[in-house]
Amino acid sequence: MPFTLQTIAYVVASLLFILSLRGLSDQRTAGRGNIYGIVGMLAAAGVTAAAVLMGVKEGAEVKLAAAVNAPLALGMLGGSIAVGCAIGAVLAARVAMTKMPQLVAILHSFVGLAAVLVGIANYLEPAHKLTGAAHYVHLSEIYVGVFIGAITFTGSVVAWAKLDGKLGSKPLLIPGRHLLNLGLIITTVVLGYLYVAADGTSGTTELLIMTAIACFLGWHLVMAIGGGDMPVVVSLLNSYSGWAAAAAGFMLSNDLLIITGALVGSSGAILSYIMCKAMNRSIWNVVFGGFGASEGAKPAPRKEDDGVERTVNEATTEGCADALRNATSVIIVPGYGMAVAQAQHPIQEVTKLLRDQGVEVRYAIHPVAGRLPGHMNVLLAEARVPYDIVLEMEEINDDFPTTDVVMIVGANDIVNPDALTDTSSPIYGMPVLEAWKADKVIMLKRGLAAGYAGVGNPLYFLPNTEMLFGDAKDSITKLLTALKE
Ligand code: TAP
Repeated sequence: MPFTLQTIAYVVASLLFILSLRGLSDQRTAGRGNIYGIVGMLAAAGVTAAAVLMGVKEGAEVKLAAAVNAPLALGMLGGSIAVGCAIGAVLAARVAMTKMPQLVAILHSFVGLAAVLVGIANYLEPAHKLTGAAHYVHLSEIYVGVFIGAITFTGSVVAWAKLDGKLGSKPLLIPGRHLLNLGLIITTVVLGYLYVAADGTSGTTELLIMTAIACFLGWHLVMAIGGGDMPVVVSLLNSYSGWAAAAAGFMLSNDLLIITGALVGSSGAILSYIMCKAMNRSIWNVVFGGFGASEGAKPAPRKEDDGVERTVNEATTEGCADALRNATSVIIVPGYGMAVAQAQHPIQEVTKLLRDQGVEVRYAIHPVAGRLPGHMNVLLAEARVPYDIVLEMEEINDDFPTTDVVMIVGANDIVNPDALTDTSSPIYGMPVLEAWKADKVIMLKRGLAAGYAGVGNPLYFLPNTEMLFGDAKDSITKLLTALKE
């Protein structure tokens, strides 16, 4: 394949990846975005495979093509892609939405490991004979790529284990850990100097010691973060995995890998920033703060704790059905509990029924509702809730005072008034949906347990709040039956 044809194909694939990201930024265009991504990936893999087999490009691919005959190379490449696709398809089809963060985490670990292996292989068997400054730049690319890759690899494995409950969510806070990290980073810089100065492949020992240090750093940095902050950490690791891929692109002189890695790296960084902003946290507070250290949810405060009498208004299904039927405007606030209960389908039916009866029904989506970005939007889209009634927090927050009924389905932190008033609350400063300003609030939960942040919620005890206890799917299904009667 002529080199220019390969370059054109790479440019087209890069454009498709950019269009894919753009499409994925809105639920209306997300399906199209996915298609662009798939086509881009097929084009990239196909062209790279063709280039390897034809041995057009100088470099590692030529070595592979030369080392084995073309049919064998095709078999190896096709076989590994087929096995990877099969495992990916089975995993993606089986995974529950609530387990998506850990799947993403383990996939990042593969990117990190790939960058480490590519880097070390590239050092031992250089693809290009470089001299002078270009040689030193190339050695530095390898060193940085392996460093980021190794941190991403072990960090992502720990994030996966914490999210999946294989490791406790408590942060591991070794005394003097910041000094230890600093010492290791200084050692890495010194080793880097020795490695770049070494002739041929005689810097292998330094490279391998640095790899071991980076693996330890990745493990240690993520072990020190509470399980509660894992979604932000996964997003950060997503960014690292992108930079690791971009570094691998430099090592292999592969422009497409550089562009794709940079896209992943920067979008992961932006996503981490957005998540932190929505939780009113700084990225440093997440990485070094030890927030989210609580093991499991704590119940809301009881009289025995502080002597304050609190009463809960317990709702009945019939009472809730009446309130919804007689309302002019209803806002539904979905949260993590809706995802756990998989209540989106009956909620969609309730929505349709009420809208058919002339009730205005809208959804209020908090930017960090659930456990991953866009979690609620994906579930509501899956249940075919019309996009135009699903509104972002800033679009709908001012409408609560003029709303008759707010139905909160398995949400807790994102509707906690303490976030605005209680300076001692760990979520103080986090913007929340001001649901309590509506005439009536119906809160669907199984009990009075806290949410992700591990704090109680005064909303349970407000006079205009009624609690409909039970699994959200069961409660909504009963509500649907009552509304139909
Ligand atoms: P949470 O505050 O975690 O509250 C979820 C509530 O759902 C729990 O209090 C639980 O109470 C209830 N629940 C669980 N299973 C249920 C079921 N089967 N049926 C009914 N209710 C059920 O959720 P949220 O309000 O969505 O807030 C999200 C939190 O996650 C925020 O603190 C946010 O900062 C954090 N976070 C989100 C993200 C992203 S990107 N979305 C990333 C990092 C952190 P019961 O046990 O009493 O039922």
